[in-house]
Amino acid sequence: MARRRQIYEGKAKILYEGPEPGTIIQYFKDDATAFNAQKKGEIAGKGVINNRISERIFTALGGIGVPTHFIKRLNMREQLVREVEIVPLEVIVRNYAAGTIAKRLGLTEGERLPRTVIEYCYKKDELGDPLVSEEHIACFGWASQEEMNDIADMAIRINDFMSGMFAGIGIKLVDFKLEFGRLWDNDFSRIILADEISPDSCRLWDAETDKKLDKDRFRQDLGDVADAYQEVARRLGLLKDDKGEEGAVLDFDEHRNKRGK
Ligand code: CDP
Repeated sequence: MARRRQIYEGKAKILYEGPEPGTIIQYFKDDATAFNAQKKGEIAGKGVINNRISERIFTALGGIGVPTHFIKRLNMREQLVREVEIVPLEVIVRNYAAGTIAKRLGLTEGERLPRTVIEYCYKKDELGDPLVSEEHIACFGWASQEEMNDIADMAIRINDFMSGMFAGIGIKLVDFKLEFGRLWDNDFSRIILADEISPDSCRLWDAETDKKLDKDRFRQDLGDVADAYQEVARRLGLLKDDKGEEGAVLDFDEHRNKRGK
C-alpha cells in the first residue's frame, strides 16, 4: 500500500492527502509553540484532546448552520476535513482584554471590553502575523468585501454560540482565533470555517476563579498545562470524570494502549 502523502506540516498539526479528492486529514500533534515559534515544547496528550474538543465545537457549530470543513473524526489524533483555500487571515474575536490587545492599548487583563471586538491579522509567520485593517485586506485582495461580510457574520454567531456553550460549563470565553477557507465549486466559492478551535486557539478562564485553562499556561510557564486542557475536555463531557460517570474515555497514551497495558 502506498504511503499517504503529507501536504503540510504546521506547528500543531500535520495535513495529509485524504481518501477522496477534495478531502484532507488533519493530524493533531502534541507540539506547542508560542511567540511566533520562539518558544517550543510538548504538551502530553494535547493532540488527542484538541482533536476531540475541536470535533465537539465544529459539530455543534454545524448544527446551528455555520458551514465548516469538518467531516468526521477518524481516530484519536485525526479528523477528515474538506480541502479549502485558506484565507490568509487570523480572525480574532475578543470579549475581554488579554494578550496583545491588553499590551497594545494598555488595558487591564481580564477587563470586559465595552463590546465584542473582531481583529484581523495577516497570516505570515515571517512577519509575526501583523494586525491589519479591512483597508489592507481590500487593498491587497486577501478577501473580497462579500467574503469579509460572511466572515464577520460567522465570527459573531460563533462567538455568541461558544460564549453560551462555555458559560454553561463555568468557563469564560476571553478571546479566540478563527481561520476561514474558500470551498470551490467550479467557478464559485463560498466561505467556510476551517482549522481548529481548541484551548490552543482560545483563551478560556474558569468563571469563578479566572484560572487559565488554555495555552497561556504554556506561554507563561504557569504549569499544569495538560491538566488544564483535560479540565476543558472533562467539562465538555469528553472525559470520564472523577466520579466515574459515563462519558467517552480519552486515552492519552495511544502507544501504551496498543501494548494493552
Ligand atoms: O495570544 P497572543 O498574545 O499571541 O495574541 P492575541 O492576539 O492576544 O491572541 C488572541 C487569541 O487568538 C488568543 O486566544 C490566542 O490563543 C489566539 N491566537 C492563536 O490561536 N494563534 C495565533 N497565531 C494568534 C492568536
